[in-house]
Amino acid sequence: MITQWTQAQRAEKMNPSVIREILKVTEKPGIISFAGGLPSPLTFPIPEFAAACAKVLTEDGKSALQYAASEGFGPLREQVAASLPWQVDPNQILITTGSQQGLDLLAKILIDKDSPIVVETPTYLGALQAFTPMEPKVVAVKSDDEGIDIADLKAKVSNEAQGARFLYVLPNFQNPTGRTMTEARRAALSAACMEMGLPIVEDNPYGELWFDQAPPLPLAARNPDGCVYLGSFSKVLAPGLRLGFMVLPKALYPKILQAKQAADLHTPSFNQRVASAVMRGDFLTRHVPMIRKLYKSQRDAMLAALEREMPVTSGNADVSVTWNKPDGGMFLWLRLPVGMNAVELLPKAVDKNVAFVPGAAFYAENADPRTMRLSFVTATVDQINIGMKALAEAIKESMQSGAQNLKKAA
Ligand SMILES: Cc1ncc(COP(=O)(O)O)c(C=O)c1O
Repeated sequence: MITQWTQAQRAEKMNPSVIREILKVTEKPGIISFAGGLPSPLTFPIPEFAAACAKVLTEDGKSALQYAASEGFGPLREQVAASLPWQVDPNQILITTGSQQGLDLLAKILIDKDSPIVVETPTYLGALQAFTPMEPKVVAVKSDDEGIDIADLKAKVSNEAQGARFLYVLPNFQNPTGRTMTEARRAALSAACMEMGLPIVEDNPYGELWFDQAPPLPLAARNPDGCVYLGSFSKVLAPGLRLGFMVLPKALYPKILQAKQAADLHTPSFNQRVASAVMRGDFLTRHVPMIRKLYKSQRDAMLAALEREMPVTSGNADVSVTWNKPDGGMFLWLRLPVGMNAVELLPKAVDKNVAFVPGAAFYAENADPRTMRLSFVTATVDQINIGMKALAEAIKESMQSGAQNLKKAA
């Protein structure tokens, strides 16, 4: 008899990400890609890791290669707690296998089938992927350049998102838009969530990557019992380590810990010890400014190339390409003129050896087809210059053919 594999209904919800399918076309050799969310490998502290690996194995090899506590390596939990800008007990820290795991654990513990959760729009695609298998009702709340729209949040929480399990929000250098929530909006959001009793999941992998000025205080610092805070070492050390952390309210810690045990027992002991050894002393205070400087120069190169190359009719966003100026992080958000569609533009851009991610992938609902995400950190300045020129050509050609089609139709 032929073996029959019957998949759970939830597996049906786990559609292959549209974005991964789209991005397959960007894997062609020689392409300049602004698509991936990959930190620059120039920032990986390879010699420091080589030294720390040797040190950990020599001094602590037996523990480093043994099973360990699910909560995480004690000294690393202490380092994390001490690095945060509000009072955190190391016992509230759970070391995770990347902050992505934190999203998955939260989904398992907080979401029932059809329970509402609230997200910004657009938002991080990987979070939607982590939440969706638990079959929530995802309610998207509008956001603008200052952050989430509080009036819309309140309206949704009184209606379709009543009893929402949490609000998922990225206040710093958001993925995908690169924007940062202002101090005023954070204060208002924090007050509104306290008033509504709405828990917050605050995801902050990019907060350290500011260019001129540190972002305002996290939401978790304003109401620690009402927030879960997710942090990551992927952007300040290296993503291949798969190291992140959660700061959990005491009420939530035991259940999330159980979910973590079921998922992977614990985050690799060796990686935790090596990262802890690398960060001992003032390593990050020397290392992170180097990343900020590099990424700022790449952001500046991209902004200058956009100014130079893109079709802009001053004061008319309908017929112009428009973009924002992120104050940190890795991404910039670009909007095409009216009538254009970034998904349709992508193959034309790929023909010219340049790639981006169409913004539609990041919306839980009502996607804006004109948007795209551009990463400015993976490509070199030369590649940024060449790639932006090619992208602008693809856009101009599409605008011209769009105008011709309109004429023909008329
Ligand atoms: C907003 C956001 N959250 C979480 C993650 C996952 O990061 P990690 O490497 O820590 O799992 C990413 C990765 O790009 C991200 O952009």
